Amino acid sequence: MIRELTEKERLDAIDNAVAIIRRNLPEYTYKCQDTNTVDGIYKPIDNIEWTTGFWPGELWLAYLASDDEVFAHAAGIFVESFLERIKKHIAVDHHDMGFLYTPSCVAAYMLTHNAHAREAALMAADNLISRFQEKGQFIQAWGAMGADDNYRYIIDCMLNLPLLYWAEKETGKSIYREIALKHTKTCIANSFRPDYSSFHTFFMNKETGEPVRGETCQGYKADSSWARGQAWAVYGLALAYRHTGEKSYLDLFEHVSDYFMEKLPEDMIPYWDLIFTSGDEPRDSSSGSIVACGFLEAADSYEKNGEYEKARKYRKMAKELLKAIYDTCMVKKDEEGINGLVKHGTYSKKSPYNTCTPAGVDECVSWGDYYWLEALVRLGGSWKSWW
Ligand code: GLY
Repeated sequence: MIRELTEKERLDAIDNAVAIIRRNLPEYTYKCQDTNTVDGIYKPIDNIEWTTGFWPGELWLAYLASDDEVFAHAAGIFVESFLERIKKHIAVDHHDMGFLYTPSCVAAYMLTHNAHAREAALMAADNLISRFQEKGQFIQAWGAMGADDNYRYIIDCMLNLPLLYWAEKETGKSIYREIALKHTKTCIANSFRPDYSSFHTFFMNKETGEPVRGETCQGYKADSSWARGQAWAVYGLALAYRHTGEKSYLDLFEHVSDYFMEKLPEDMIPYWDLIFTSGDEPRDSSSGSIVACGFLEAADSYEKNGEYEKARKYRKMAKELLKAIYDTCMVKKDEEGINGLVKHGTYSKKSPYNTCTPAGVDECVSWGDYYWLEALVRLGGSWKSWW
């Protein structure tokens, strides 16, 4: 039987998360959390990964959930680290500026008017638009600009674009929105197959700008649907609709969401690639939390549009996904030997057909912890999004 997360369970889950985050604070105030745990524990690292914005994001969420200033204070310390990172251009030659600077610095600016946070996030937005390729109309994800083996974008970038909508609002400069819209158009035109599954990465022709082919890096194979890629698409499209009011984005959101939900196993914890629907392959619980956030985002839009039935439908499905994670993946605050919030995430699983470096299989993953807590806080009803 499919059940929904209750309010009592939501509060219990927040209590667990805040307790674990509080316990982790001494270790990760001047150090960041690594991308994923190894045997349940996050290694403390410098601010060099694409994922280091998630832990400060968790601190802001913990602050909102608990009203305890200690979390805001620690999150404020990270703002300086993020300003230094973008000023010194440390490990920012890629597109993940939104993942890095939205939960750390846009959140800090929204909640505390921290001027350094605004400065850092705007510099990150400038860095992001500097990766726009006119030929093909996309933001290049990885590698040296124009490199033949990296003339492509990836579906994940949909979550980097809200930083550009924010930058447009802050500065009044339309270039940020224009690039976000052009990239979205290219992504929608190429990344989805007729059944609304998605390609992880997509190559464009460097000379003509024409679409070339879909490929995978972290999915099982080129024509399967990597669970997290599909999840980034779900949440990214819901956000794109909020920032633009473009109805076709919301229509596509529904189809892409349907595909995700149809491929879930009975226990509703996604396999790492949606090609798997049963058996012993590792799961990626983080995809469930990301999709739950996307559903809650879209539910707000439907409600504003007066489409109450759809708002109810997506809230209900979000609560079902969260209930599954609560029952089978949530770390309890008194559990020993583990310092993440959610088990059974997968960062990169090697397959015979993909090109990823294996990492973090069946572990806690930094964004899995973050989106779990974002979904829980969102469900409370008063959260103002920084995406
Ligand atoms: N954006 C990289 C990932 O989701 O693993």
